[in-house]
Amino acid sequence: MATAGKVIKCKAAVAWEPNKPLVIEEIEVAPPQTNEVRIKIVASGLCHTDLYHLFEGMHKDGFPAVLGHEGAGIVESVGPGVIEFQPGDKVIPLFIPQCGECRFCKSPKTNQCVNAWDVGVMSDPESRFTCKGKKVLQFMGTSTFSEYTVMNQMAVAKIDPTAPLDKVCLLGCGICTGYGAAVNTAKVEPGSTCAVFGMGAVGLAAVMGCKAAGAKRIIAVDINPDKFEKAKVFGATDFVNPKDHSKPVSKVLSEMTDGGVDFSLECVGNVGVMRSALESCVRGWGVSVLVGWTDLDDFAARPIQLIAGRTWKGSLFGGFKSKDGVPQMVKKYLDKKILVDEFITHNMALDQVNDAIELMKQGKCIRTVLSISPQ
Ligand SMILES: NC(=O)c1ccc[n+]([C@@H]2O[C@H](COP(=O)([O-])OP(=O)(O)OC[C@H]3O[C@@H](n4cnc5c(N)ncnc54)[C@H](O)[C@@H]3O)[C@@H](O)[C@H]2O)c1
Ligand SMILES: [Zn+2]
Ligand SMILES: [Zn+2]
Repeated sequence: MATAGKVIKCKAAVAWEPNKPLVIEEIEVAPPQTNEVRIKIVASGLCHTDLYHLFEGMHKDGFPAVLGHEGAGIVESVGPGVIEFQPGDKVIPLFIPQCGECRFCKSPKTNQCVNAWDVGVMSDPESRFTCKGKKVLQFMGTSTFSEYTVMNQMAVAKIDPTAPLDKVCLLGCGICTGYGAAVNTAKVEPGSTCAVFGMGAVGLAAVMGCKAAGAKRIIAVDINPDKFEKAKVFGATDFVNPKDHSKPVSKVLSEMTDGGVDFSLECVGNVGVMRSALESCVRGWGVSVLVGWTDLDDFAARPIQLIAGRTWKGSLFGGFKSKDGVPQMVKKYLDKKILVDEFITHNMALDQVNDAIELMKQGKCIRTVLSISPQ
């Protein structure tokens, strides 16, 4: 490739500071160093975690940054020591690496590779980007709102060359997160009753996971009733809008299910909803999984909730070991075993990223897929 070994100047959406629109800039992307891969990003979804960083969490030291962590692309060039990837390979960048060698990667119990960047800060201080003479951070290590990005090879998954990148980009975060939270973390059982709070892409994917695991009843909970029609497509059987009830939603669910659901998944990112999700579970064996993202507040619950036999768990990236799990999910999509296209409500160009952000803020989309570089 003519660009190998050289700095690439390309377009990216830069978040200069919290709470401000992203700015389309020309950035410089350095060549990949040892064990690194430079990727031409073809398409990227917008996930609520991008909004969280920009408007809600607002870690001042996480800026300037290029957001985006739900992308897919093509390897442009590789650095020294990379043998697994070649220019032209189709790949998905991973916000959790899988080195395969650390104590966490060797355990079947978790996907928390020791090489993960500091999730507290949310932006990787190692960055190959500069803009106007300033270093620009890579949000979640990935930065898919850029025509090119550089990743360590332990955080890149090679996928089936026939996969459509403008669809499977969503397997880089939202779909794997929700689906895996149901299947891998909650371990939903056949014949069970489930409740999923929040019908964004993550919650809808959790509904899809509950259905795949054989749940017989799946209750979709959202304060935006526009989401319920979509929830049906993914397998929800019942719908509850907490705003339609004067009593707490956990009470409503408990009455609907003779004492509570077997499994609940919180896909909102709100500690009050996390508590409701736990309290919606049946005593004795109910399992509640935190999927929604927040570190603004502590959560609270009465100890009796757990003493009486409920389990409270959390799930990052659906518990998938990223490098192994993502290509398998791509295969499932190509084999028509999971839905992906149905999550996409809008397609836009990178220049329209602020419109995509606005749509999500207003609850008017499930996923917008941005086309980043021409293929
Ligand atoms: N754990 C992980 O690895 C991981 C990965 C990706 C996203 N996330 C998090 O998952 C959450 C969902 O992401 P998304 O992209 O689907 O977001 P989204 O904004 O598309 O969807 C959130 C949904 O929650 C609903 N909601 C808001 N308040 C509610 C309430 N009080 N009760 C019920 N529903 C309510 C909204 O109406 C919306 O439909 C976010 O917090 C995101 O940061 C976590
Ligand atoms: Zn995400
Ligand atoms: Zn590891």
